[in-house]
Amino acid sequence: MSAIPENVQRVIVLDFGAQYSQLIARRVRECRVYSELLPYDTPVEKLRELEPAGIILSGGPRSVNDSGAPMISPEVLELGVPVLGICYGLQLLSKLGGGGVGRTAKAEYGGVRLHVTESSALFSDVPRESPSWMSHGDTVLEPASGYRVTARTEHGAIAALENPQRRFYGVQFHPEVRHTEYGMQVLKNFLYEICDIVPTWTPANIIEEQVARIREQVGDGKIICGLSGGVDSAVAALLTYKAVGDQLTCIFVDHGLMRKDEGREVEEAFRGHFHVPLVHVQAQERFLRRLQGVSDPEEKRKHIGEEFIRTFEEEARQLGQVDFLVQGTLYSDVIESGTRDAAKIKSHHNVGGLPELMDFDLVEPLRMLFKDEVRVVGEELGLPEAMVWRQPFPGPGLAIRIIGEVTEERLRVLREADAVLLDEVRRAGFYRKLWQSFAVLPGIRSVGVMGDERTYAYPIVIRAVTSDDAMTADWARLPYDLLERISNRIINEVPGVNRVALDISSKPPSTIEWE
Ligand code: XMP
Repeated sequence: MSAIPENVQRVIVLDFGAQYSQLIARRVRECRVYSELLPYDTPVEKLRELEPAGIILSGGPRSVNDSGAPMISPEVLELGVPVLGICYGLQLLSKLGGGGVGRTAKAEYGGVRLHVTESSALFSDVPRESPSWMSHGDTVLEPASGYRVTARTEHGAIAALENPQRRFYGVQFHPEVRHTEYGMQVLKNFLYEICDIVPTWTPANIIEEQVARIREQVGDGKIICGLSGGVDSAVAALLTYKAVGDQLTCIFVDHGLMRKDEGREVEEAFRGHFHVPLVHVQAQERFLRRLQGVSDPEEKRKHIGEEFIRTFEEEARQLGQVDFLVQGTLYSDVIESGTRDAAKIKSHHNVGGLPELMDFDLVEPLRMLFKDEVRVVGEELGLPEAMVWRQPFPGPGLAIRIIGEVTEERLRVLREADAVLLDEVRRAGFYRKLWQSFAVLPGIRSVGVMGDERTYAYPIVIRAVTSDDAMTADWARLPYDLLERISNRIINEVPGVNRVALDISSKPPSTIEWE
């Protein structure tokens, strides 16, 4: 934390375990104010040291009336810093102030209309009535002394409270979610008007901050980073290189399951352009050998994961003593694996297990960022556009897009078909609008006719989805003429294909990848 320049005004979000507390910190950063998330029980001395310009208390799954409910020390409210409580945070402020909190007659989940009833700095430029988003069972029944009600829900429940003398504000709705139409305005009012912060922070400032942090963490230790071709590991590697230069070596294991030209692009960008020390391991053959005769999806993932670790280890060992491993872990990876105060949803299935098997300390400079913030940082660092905007690609690569056994021949067919599909998607201006778009090769063949000849060849399936976070996804409604061009070109240009089909399933109940 000490790595952040002294003059940056910061807002601390205290996390009470809401599934998306980090989203609050992210929205604050969108308002161009530096923000970070800390556990709710961060000692008050530490908070004092950080000199926050504002504190936000997040939502959380508990009731403030539960025994053992997460609390803040009352001293936090004596720091003289403006406080905004959101949902659980509002109830906590009320409870600590001696107000009454209890079950509502009517629990409010989802869209609820917000009625601003009193003029308030928090609601400046917010209409008297607007859509908001709520998710609560408890509500404030009796405001604490010194507080006044400034907004109610359409059902009459208290939606906002304030004690302007002490600069304590609380809202029952969630300003951080997009469904609250004026949520960003409420946050801006809190930050600019109430906390009196000048908005100067940009994602690019993260570079300076993280570079300083990395230097502090690694000293003169030796670091390695595994590049995957994706934007996350590329940005993590470049930040580290900027911090410690040649103490970093990147290892790029080319398992032969990459998309067309991907290996070459990584090599050109890192070795050619940035001059980052890079070991490019051509491991295509050993992966293909390992995958021989394997057609079960989980078996494939297991073999690839293990082979990856083995290859990576062999290369790392040749570098002598290595102390740190850089990983491009994002906030969305952290939340999927569960943070300390949030419930675990599922373990992230990344290529890896590296840190468990190898004796490295982790450097994770992107842990607090969302994907689009990482892209801004990548652009700022000068990463080529093709890498910054590359759609996500799974660690096991094309192997999990070939149903059945992975062979050199099938890889060739899929890689060519995928390149055609991506080319057309790009030309039509859809590449950035889609979360992912790719070709799948089901390991079956069907009959066709080409010229006057019977063919017996593979079909290709087009998979294109829209999504915000890959947790849910919808199949993309691509225009018919685009689909037609993709189909014609694949069948004409890729030997071994005589049919193209379109996947029209969303997630759930399907998944994005076929395996
Ligand atoms: P599914 O298929 O589960 O995929 O809907 C969700 C997202 O995760 C990507 N994915 C992976 N990424 N290692 C990765 O790094 C993997 O093993 C892996 N499997 C799936 C997938 O491309 C999609 O974006």
